[in-house]
Amino acid sequence: MNISGNKVVLVGNGAVGSSYAFSMMNQGLCDEFVIIDLNKDKVTGDVMDLNHGVLYAPSPTKIKAGDYSDCHDAAIVVLCAGAAQKPGETRLDLVNKNLAIFKSIVDEIMASGFDGIFIVATNPVDILTYATMKFSGLPTHQVMGSGTILDTARFRYLLSERFNVAPASIHANIIGEHGDSELAVWSTANIAGMSLKDYLEKHPEHDGELETIVDDVKEAAYRIIKAKGATFYGVAMGLMRITKAILNNEEAVLTVSAYLDGEYGHKDIYIGVPAIINRHGIRQVIESRLNDEEKEQLDQSVATLVQYLPR
Ligand code: 2OP
Repeated sequence: MNISGNKVVLVGNGAVGSSYAFSMMNQGLCDEFVIIDLNKDKVTGDVMDLNHGVLYAPSPTKIKAGDYSDCHDAAIVVLCAGAAQKPGETRLDLVNKNLAIFKSIVDEIMASGFDGIFIVATNPVDILTYATMKFSGLPTHQVMGSGTILDTARFRYLLSERFNVAPASIHANIIGEHGDSELAVWSTANIAGMSLKDYLEKHPEHDGELETIVDDVKEAAYRIIKAKGATFYGVAMGLMRITKAILNNEEAVLTVSAYLDGEYGHKDIYIGVPAIINRHGIRQVIESRLNDEEKEQLDQSVATLVQYLPR
């Protein structure tokens, strides 16, 4: 595995990809950032535009247009290519279209000699992350998806709004499919160092305020797509956060789409779960204790995804 350098290659310069490029430049996380897309004019324009902001970033990034040969020495390749959800579509409706696109892209990347870490963002992300692992032949720890990193951010944002506590002081995860069958792990939720149950006992004024939160998380993407056609800033920040955890060897726990090999009672599937992320990719899946209802919901979510897996 290539763990030298911090070159990042983005494949797919649509709304999500270019927002991710902006967030990466803004944080100054890598020395070299390469963008690959069929629409060369859009890449040329974005590369110029992004480079004009580099002076004001915390550290300089060389941003350039490239092709698949650029992946050979990349530490990370981020896949944002493919068709996006239209109003009325679910993420799973995109599966056939995007599987075909991914087969050709991953083949080209592997032909370059790439041996770094894949981060997949395209939907349905859990299925396409599994496909990327299969198509690439890379070890499962070198392939991950954005999973429920965004849903967890939405959840923590909504909780922070209700409780008026910063999202960083709230530990609560959404796990499962990045999609309609995902679930909140209420049983381990923690606010300001207290279990949610204890917190609510001390703050009875918030009673009953949590009921709609999970629905609001699940409906967020549909609402945004209806309002402006696509979602991109939130997921871009989530992708940047995963990239940062890898490049800085953080051992950070993030809810990514990770390969299960017996954890939570499931095997041979990628799904959103908390996992420790470091310079080698996924170091370990964290198996949080779920209550019976949560376990059943996770089993349902796995069952939803299994039928779409390319075998
Ligand atoms: C999102 O959740 C559509 O998967 C995308 O924003």
